[in-house]
Amino acid sequence: MTWQQQQQDGPSRVDGRAKVTGTAKYIAEFSFPRMAHGYLVQSTIAKGKIRDIDTAEAEKQPGVIKVLSHKNLSKLAIPAPAPDAVVRPFYALTSDEIRFNAQPIAVVVAETFEQARYAASLVKIAYDRAAHSTDLRGSLDKAFVSGREQPDRGNPEEAFAAAEFKIEAEYTIPIEHHNAMEPHATVASWEDGKLTVYDKTQGIQGTTGYLAAAFGIDRANVRVLSPFVGGAFGAALRPGPNLIIAAMAAREIERPVKVVYSRRQLATAHGYRPESIQIVKAAADKDGKLTSLTHQATHNTSAYENFSENLVGMARGLYACPNVRTVSKIARVDMQTPLWMRAPGMVSGAFALESALDELSYKLKIDPLELRLRNYAEADPETGRPFSSKELRECYRQAAERFGWSKRTPEPRSMRDGKYLIGWGMATGMWPAGQAAASARVTINADGTARVESGTTDIGPGTYTTMTIIASQVLGLPLEKITFVLGDSELPPSPAQGGSTTTSSVGTAVKEASELVLKELAELAGKDEGSPFREIDAANLITEDGSILVRGRPETKLSFTEILKKNNLGHIGLLHRSTPDTGERGKYVIASHGAQFLEVRVDEEIGNVRVTRVVQGTAAGKIINPKGAHSQEMGGVVWGIGMAMTEKTEVDHALGRIMNPNLAGYHVPVNADIGRIETIFVEEDDKIVNPLGAKGLGELGMVGVPAAIANAVFHATGKRIRDLPITPDKLL
Ligand code: MOS
Repeated sequence: MTWQQQQQDGPSRVDGRAKVTGTAKYIAEFSFPRMAHGYLVQSTIAKGKIRDIDTAEAEKQPGVIKVLSHKNLSKLAIPAPAPDAVVRPFYALTSDEIRFNAQPIAVVVAETFEQARYAASLVKIAYDRAAHSTDLRGSLDKAFVSGREQPDRGNPEEAFAAAEFKIEAEYTIPIEHHNAMEPHATVASWEDGKLTVYDKTQGIQGTTGYLAAAFGIDRANVRVLSPFVGGAFGAALRPGPNLIIAAMAAREIERPVKVVYSRRQLATAHGYRPESIQIVKAAADKDGKLTSLTHQATHNTSAYENFSENLVGMARGLYACPNVRTVSKIARVDMQTPLWMRAPGMVSGAFALESALDELSYKLKIDPLELRLRNYAEADPETGRPFSSKELRECYRQAAERFGWSKRTPEPRSMRDGKYLIGWGMATGMWPAGQAAASARVTINADGTARVESGTTDIGPGTYTTMTIIASQVLGLPLEKITFVLGDSELPPSPAQGGSTTTSSVGTAVKEASELVLKELAELAGKDEGSPFREIDAANLITEDGSILVRGRPETKLSFTEILKKNNLGHIGLLHRSTPDTGERGKYVIASHGAQFLEVRVDEEIGNVRVTRVVQGTAAGKIINPKGAHSQEMGGVVWGIGMAMTEKTEVDHALGRIMNPNLAGYHVPVNADIGRIETIFVEEDDKIVNPLGAKGLGELGMVGVPAAIANAVFHATGKRIRDLPITPDKLL
């Protein structure tokens, strides 16, 4: 399917109207009666202790109800970690210890947001400072392997030494922030020992459990709601300080409390993509067959938690190379703990690996696409297991053809358009296609409508729409007759929306629950003596337009409404939990793949780079929601352009502080930065991955993009930029 067809095919977002008319409510828009507003006070040092908090001036201000901190807040139910414990999860406002700059250390609660914000500026903090270090390179000598060390495949060192064609290079990526449109926010209310929160979260269940543990109450006494999420990209995968602060403050003042972050606070109290330093060594024989691959990656974690993401997975799973070494390390810095950010680990690793492959292609004088085809892994190179499906070769072929790759002249600086240097680059992406247990309730009503419920979230990929499509296809009901409900901990439990697994997990639950309801309806239809549905094998039943029919006998037809009325039922419904078929899945390697081909146009006089066109080929199983999938892949490209070209969180190491926590200093791409993006889906008929045959694609679309851009920039200019982002100063 081409880009143009994608625009036309498939339904639009079922929640689109609600979103554009403003009736879709985001967290900061929810309120409770008697609600107060909390505004954070944040540390101005990176490490040390709070000696004193002077709240006198703040408390005198109009509207101020209370200033709360570790000094006067009631304790949480979680045991305080031993001061010398290495891993001590951070609970805001529970101790005098400062672990990172801009750490929330107090909250001013007032009648209005403005009153709280002003009073917060008057709180005076005295510190006992300690020496800090926020520089990853300075901490490299203390980096350590977190988790399992992976044994070498073959003998990478020997093979590298013996190779005729080889490269060794270092690649660096700075800290980046998610910068979603919607700020983190929580509205918390206690009533009779029950806690209700509206919270910006990707995981309803995790948030519920976190609050129950923190306050020492039963899960049943916690309700978490998150009906719409205005972008998250991983930033809401972990409960943030706003959540616990709002809930603690509400408990303390015995009134509901709302805490909404400012734009500055988004970059100072939640996670971020960690800074990374990677070294890749790659070697090949004269035919371009990889003989050795070493990928070593180190990224930062905080001083108090071991956060680790996998940057080296592709080095082990993408190419058929007999000798492979991967090393994954983390190093401590005095910053808050990092967090997953779109395509976590994989996109950082792909920037290094896919840049290195490109570098090697010039050494070999082999076309970069041809080099990848010569090292194509037909089975998992690590275990030898087959892929459940893998149409990467077809992605390469179709996207290259659409792009016109064969017209590329190989020499750097060989393509021009007037004063502009033109560069064509390509790279590959990969993402594991996971599935987790999930549940859904499907109810068919006597009026011919259906309600489908699952406690998942929709952070923007179109889950409302995708789940409605799945139910519609099984039930044979038009989309408008189906209401899909999510974002409430009282709904059937489902996993967090993360890792591109929602369609696979929740979608399977919705599909299976819908099938089971239909089966019950069919049984009801066949109950009566003389019913034409008696003794009909379920396999011969089909659904169409709210009716059940017998295959090949169109006259044998009963509407859902007739069946329910006949049985005096207002509705019929059931709850179903689906689980992945781990036995069958375990026999295969299950992953989505993609290839990106793109063009950059470089104005050498000013070092300006524009990504003028991108063709992306994606193999992610069956595409259920074509418009949504197209949009996800486009979004992945836009994110890749941001990572490659503009995004960088600047840290002043002298202060240990983030210097650009705002959209003026942290540049995300805008429409004017984006050229033409075409997506091609190569569908895979995959019976293994799950009953839907659908793999995830939300993260995948980004994975190869930064490398493809760096490769295109080299092709245009002859300059290899191994340090992101590729800003003009690096090209001048
Ligand atoms: Mo994604 S980083 O799992 O939200």
